[in-house]
Formats: sequence, C-alpha cells, structure tokens
Amino acid sequence: MITETKRLILREYNFEDFDTLYEILSDKETMEHYPKPYDEKAVRGWIQWNIENYDKYGFGLWAVVLKETGKMIGDCGITIQNIDGDLLPEIGYRIHKNYWRNGFGSEAARAVRDWAFENTEYDRLYSYMKYTNVASYSTASAIGMKKVKEYHDEINRVLYVYAITREDWKALKG
Ligand SMILES: CC(C)(COP(=O)(O)OP(=O)(O)OC[C@H]1O[C@@H](n2cnc3c(N)ncnc32)[C@H](O)[C@@H]1OP(=O)(O)O)[C@@H](O)C(=O)NCCC(=O)NCCS
Repeated sequence: MITETKRLILREYNFEDFDTLYEILSDKETMEHYPKPYDEKAVRGWIQWNIENYDKYGFGLWAVVLKETGKMIGDCGITIQNIDGDLLPEIGYRIHKNYWRNGFGSEAARAVRDWAFENTEYDRLYSYMKYTNVASYSTASAIGMKKVKEYHDEINRVLYVYAITREDWKALKG
C-alpha cells in the first residue's frame, strides 16, 4: 500500500487490474476529454508505463481501491508530464463513472498531494487538463490548486494548468 484515506487505499498497479482499468479507459464518456478511448493494447501499455515509473521515479499512477468492497474504482498518482515544454510532476486521476461525484476523485488526489509533498522534494505540484474538463479542474481546485496558466496545442486547443506550492500546502495543513 502507498497511502490510505478514510474510504480508499492507493496501491501499485499489477496486470490483474487490466479488466477494471479497461472498463474505465475504454469508456467513451469517461474519455470524453482525451483524443480517444483506449483499446486493449493501450491499456496494457498504461499499466506497463506505470510499473516502469514506480522503478524510475518511485511513483506513478496508483490503483484507487474502495476499502468497503476491496474493488478498484480508478487511478490517481503522479507522473512527469510535458506541460507547455516543461517536464513537471502532475497529479492525475480517473474514477469509474459509476462512482463519480461521491468525493472519491478529490479524496484520492488530496492523499496523492500529501504523499508527494511528504516523500519528494518538489516545491510545486501540477494538474493540467483540456479546458472543457470541468470535473478535472474542479477536482484540482478542491485540493487547493489554483489556475496558473492557459496554453494552446493542436489536439486540445486550450489547456488549463493548475498548481499548488509547498508553501500553500503547508498553510492549508496548518
Ligand atoms: C475528474 C474525476 C476523476 C473526478 O472524480 P469524482 O470522484 O467525480 O470527483 P469528486 O466527487 O471528488 O469531485 C471533485 C469536485 O469536482 C466537481 N465535479 C465532479 N464532476 C463534475 C462535473 N461533471 N461537473 C462539474 N463539477 C464536477 C465536484 O462537485 C467537486 O467539486 P467541489 O469540491 O467544489 O464540490 C472524474 O470526473 C473522472 O474520472 N473523469 C474522467 C477522467 C478524466 O477526465 N480525468 C482527468 C484527466 S485530466
């Protein structure tokens, strides 16, 4: 286990997570703000990429598991993303649509934010998303991030960049 919250456990992925992850990442509605839903090959690549990241960085996207049932309901974690030309630590999240709007996304992201400030030297954590992804930027604000930038690319047209500094995080934690 990497970390836990009142309702959730975050743990590393393994290939047994394939079926649940495929259900999430191949779903059209869930992937509305991505270029396209993932096929089986892309989902296997996603798990492999994260397993490699655990080795390379000591973090990646982790499986989000509901304590009550032991079922995996999504993922949340940190990856290094190219955000407008800079390689930055990014908190990412996806929750199975059957569980949306129950506070699970922000509960997981808050735990990842705390883990990152406690276990890495980063002074700023980011989340970025397509400008249409209201659920994503609402989740970023729910964990104390503020919009710091907008930029353009060909695929997403406009992207929003949210961030929280270590200083603001400390103030938030009191
Ligand atoms: C983004 C996502 C993980 C949020 O998960 P969730 O468990 O529904 O989030 P929460 O219930 O914790 O909600 C967090 C905040 O977002 C708001 N929110 C969630 N979904 C929303 C929606 N569709 N429209 C508007 N606001 C929304 C909530 O009201 C809450 O705001 P509040 O703190 O002001 O009340 C989920 O919508 C998802 O998996 N989306 C598809 C994948 C994706 O696009 N991921 C982000 C990639 S950049």
